[in-house]
Amino acid sequence: MDGRSRKAQNRFACRIAPLAGGASCYSSASFLRPFCISCVLSALLLVSCTKWDVGQFFAHPSIEQRMQDNLSDELTVPAAPEVSPDSFRFALFGDPQIEEDLVSRLDWFGQEVADRKIDFFGVLGDLTEDALPAERDAVLSGLAAPGVPYYCTLGNHELYQADGWEWYKTMFGPGCYAIFVAGKVKLIFLDTADGLLGQEQFDWLERELAADTGYVTIVATHYPIYDGTQPIMWRLAGPAERYKLLSLLERYKVHSYVSGHIHGWRHSRLGGLNHFICALPPGGMDYGKPGYVLFTWAHDSLAWEHVEIDSKE
Ligand SMILES: [Fe+2]
Repeated sequence: MDGRSRKAQNRFACRIAPLAGGASCYSSASFLRPFCISCVLSALLLVSCTKWDVGQFFAHPSIEQRMQDNLSDELTVPAAPEVSPDSFRFALFGDPQIEEDLVSRLDWFGQEVADRKIDFFGVLGDLTEDALPAERDAVLSGLAAPGVPYYCTLGNHELYQADGWEWYKTMFGPGCYAIFVAGKVKLIFLDTADGLLGQEQFDWLERELAADTGYVTIVATHYPIYDGTQPIMWRLAGPAERYKLLSLLERYKVHSYVSGHIHGWRHSRLGGLNHFICALPPGGMDYGKPGYVLFTWAHDSLAWEHVEIDSKE
């Protein structure tokens, strides 16, 4: 579990608990009613005074509803980067998670792009901590600053405001899409902002995986399948979806599954599949060092390395 997600969930529990408590005690003995009404009013005041949009307590578009948008003609898939088919580099990482102090490691990453001649990069969700306007502006500036193409998908934190999906799709387009890089690498981004894929996204993924061969395929998304040690609650939610996804990735010989969500660094290899968890949060890590996975295509093969922020500190 990433520290910030844990913090956010604790905040969520703290804000929901008074509401639940108020409702519960309101239904008990009548002599408690004045106190319980006070509970409810206090809770509503608390919610109204926080930076969280009250809308977050109501349903967001489900993955099924977001898939209707993702696969519609209304959202434009980002254009593939223009790179040399002989040699190119790209970086993937999750969780820049800029919060209201607007501290970010994207500035450092921008220098990395220049120093290592990174052609493009992908960000795997949790772009901001609370999806507040200032945070949104800061992450857009931070992503654009390196001056190379970038690709995003969304995380659970993108849905922390009632208009989270609207903002995301307006700024970035679909949450699940595929791009071909110089006919050598296919990058498939998945929308797992709820920890779910859903049947329609599975069907789309299988069509993408089965469509062609002859290139290296990487699947990039927010939630990990597992973290390489023991069962955890911060992986894709459903066991059936995890098993089905693993089966698809292995059947179609996917090179790597890259995710964030956990603020950690982990690489595991199962069969021929690399599992990566990597994050670039502004704060501390749950394990490992903050950084990104740097992929290099050269000599008709794809190599990777984890670049730690320590190398710059
Ligand atoms: Fe997350």
